[in-house]
Amino acid sequence: MTADETMREIAKQVTICEKCELHFSRKNAVPGEGPVNAQILFIGEGPGFHENEQGRPFVGQAGKFLDELLTHAGLKREVVFITNVVKCRPPSNRDPLPEELNACGNYLDKQIESIDPWVIVTLGRFSMAKYLPMARISAIHGKPAWVGDRLILPMYHPAAALHQPKLKSDIIADFVGLPKAIEQAQKVRKINLEPIIAETYQTSSATESPEQLRLF
Ligand code: URA
Ligand code: SF4
Repeated sequence: MTADETMREIAKQVTICEKCELHFSRKNAVPGEGPVNAQILFIGEGPGFHENEQGRPFVGQAGKFLDELLTHAGLKREVVFITNVVKCRPPSNRDPLPEELNACGNYLDKQIESIDPWVIVTLGRFSMAKYLPMARISAIHGKPAWVGDRLILPMYHPAAALHQPKLKSDIIADFVGLPKAIEQAQKVRKINLEPIIAETYQTSSATESPEQLRLF
């Protein structure tokens, strides 16, 4: 199977999945969307009200803010892949339970394997915990870390940051610093960027962050 076929197959399975309790209350499962050859993967928490209605990730208020954040990072939404740790909406947007994360984790793992992104931006605690289980988000947000051969960029969850002025300015600063963090990382690993990413840097408004540069 090609990566594209695998991704379609995963999306098909997710749509009819009954592996955890979340299937009882969902209207539409949300497998995720974006190009299969994306170099950057964004992982959120789980669908909210509007995502459940439309079957698409980050289309509500948090999604509008994510769009704004992507602009700060000089990234077009069409070039990144966006998904969640659980593909069905937790009732009343409660946190996903360990057994739900467990049941759904296999879909996410298969998506990551097929897309094979070298940068993963985690949005919120649950996707961060997949890669950096001992970390506190308040201590490491915006700071890139290599996990195997993938660069993990832990960010606050846009929905959490939206209404808290301190977190909001932090998450905006973290997204502004994202291109620089990626650029530094790719120099270290001598990764050749595809033109689409190079273009991203040229259009980015990012300024150098001395704190981030010291990490490499
Ligand atoms: N919040 C998330 O974590 N994911 C979505 O898709 C929408 C809101
Ligand atoms: Fe299946 Fe994941 Fe939906 Fe649970 S959340 S029913 S495991 S697709």
